[in-house]
Formats: sequence, C-alpha cells, structure tokens
Amino acid sequence: MIDVQSLTMHYGPVVALDHVSFQTNPGEILGLLGPNGAGKTTAMRLLTTYLYPSSGTAKVDGFDILEEPLEVRKHIGYLPETVTLYADMQVDEYLAFVGKARGLEGARLAERMEWVKEACHLKTVWKHFLSELSKGYGQRAGLAQALIHDPKVLILDEPTSGLDPIQIIEIRSLIKSLAKQKTVVFSTHILQEVEVLADRIVILNEGKLVAQGTKRELAEKVPHTGKAPQDVSLEEIFIQLLVPRAVVKV
Ligand SMILES: Nc1ncnc2c1ncn2[C@@H]1O[C@H](COP(=O)(O)OP(=O)(O)O)[C@@H](O)[C@H]1O
Ligand SMILES: [Mg+2]
Repeated sequence: MIDVQSLTMHYGPVVALDHVSFQTNPGEILGLLGPNGAGKTTAMRLLTTYLYPSSGTAKVDGFDILEEPLEVRKHIGYLPETVTLYADMQVDEYLAFVGKARGLEGARLAERMEWVKEACHLKTVWKHFLSELSKGYGQRAGLAQALIHDPKVLILDEPTSGLDPIQIIEIRSLIKSLAKQKTVVFSTHILQEVEVLADRIVILNEGKLVAQGTKRELAEKVPHTGKAPQDVSLEEIFIQLLVPRAVVKV
C-alpha cells in the first residue's frame, strides 16, 4: 500500500531524511516513532507530495510520488501537524469547502458530509464556527477534512498532540475504527501512542531508519533483555535501540 524506497531529503546542509525505506500493507496502522527532529513530518510531507525529495521515491497505492503526484494526492487524506482551520467558517461550511476543492459535489458531497459528521462525532458542533472549537473538536474537524473524499490512505502528523487525556482516548479510538477500512500512517514522539495504536512501527532518529517491524519483530531484534520477545516493552526496545548504553541501564 505504501512503499518508501531510500527516501532522502536535504534542507540545505540539514539531512532531514537519509535513505529511509519502509513498507505498509493495506488496512494496517503504521506508527512513525521518533524524537523531535527525527524526520517524521518531512517523511509525511514527501508522501503527500507537498515536498519533492532530494533522492529516492515512494509509492502510495501503486502511484509514484514523483511520476503521478496528483493521483497520490487523490488517494491520501492528510492531517498536518498544525491544521489551518478558517476561523470564520462553520464546521459544515468548512467541510463543504474542502469537499468541493476535492472535486465532490451534489449528492455525493452531501453523503460524504453526513459520513464524516457521524464518523468524527461532529454533530454537536456542526453549525459552530471553527474559531469556537476546543482543541479536541478542532482535531476532529481536521480529521474530517482529511476523510471527506474517502481516501484509501490517511496520513496523520501527531494527531493527538496538545489534547487532554480524554480527547486522546477519543481520537485514538476514532483512528482505530477508521483503520478497518483504510491504511493509516501516523507520527508521534510518544511511545505509548504507538504501543496502543500501531500494527507496524517505524523508528526514525536524526533522519535515519533505526528499525521497522511489528512490536514482536522489533523485540526480537533487541539483544540481551533476558526476556521472551512478547514480554519486552516498547520502552525497553526504544531505549536499547536509541539511547547509548552508558546513559540508561535497562
Ligand atoms: N523547512 C525546513 N528548513 C530547514 N530545515 C528543516 C525544515 N523542516 C525541517 N527541518 C529540519 O529537518 C529535520 C527533521 O525535521 P522534521 O521532519 O520536522 O522532524 P520531526 O517531525 O520528526 O520532528 C530537523 O532537523 C528540522 O530542523
Ligand atoms: Mg514533526
């Protein structure tokens, strides 16, 4: 479904991504995990074709980001790290606006509006101005705009950042329910987030791929824990792979 091949991105002298490759299967939730500056947002901007890579490429649902960027965009819904919500639009007006920009109209637009209203639990704020929304509802409106054209792939950049614990639980369960029909890629610097949400994990650090696989596969790569792979926590895996041994003793 997503096939990233040796993707590399330089911003002047900064190497934000360095020959990173990873894959996901349809219907999977892929968690991009890494500290700030790891290259997560850059990877997502490349996948959504908002940036052009320095080298390497990726395919989304069979379409190459370099050769067929417009096809790629059609198949992707994107929730950026900071969503631009037009303050003076109502939720319904905003989603109609995005839907039309995505080429929807008439009965199909109405049907998709109803679908995102239900799926993203926006009923109670449907006629509210975007400026009035809490951070949690703002994030749901952001998810709704990413879903309006019924994309096969959802790309969510730190979808729970800045939310309170209840909002985090709600957004997580929303993402889980969406993943039944879609492939989801999300980023986070929070271990627990990937632990509860991701089927497959890609760990990035300073632009480099540290490891990828299911949690079980990652656990099997980590040496010397003295535990069975199913008993190794993601925290242990992360520390073993990323933190120099002298700093933290597991
Ligand atoms: N537009 C930009 N210009 C210059 N450097 C950038 C730009 N965007 C990101 N970077 C740098 O690229 C690296 C990766 O950033 P980013 O992809 O935002 O990481 P993450 O999302 O994991 O925090 C960082 O060192 C960051 O400072
Ligand atoms: Mg980021």
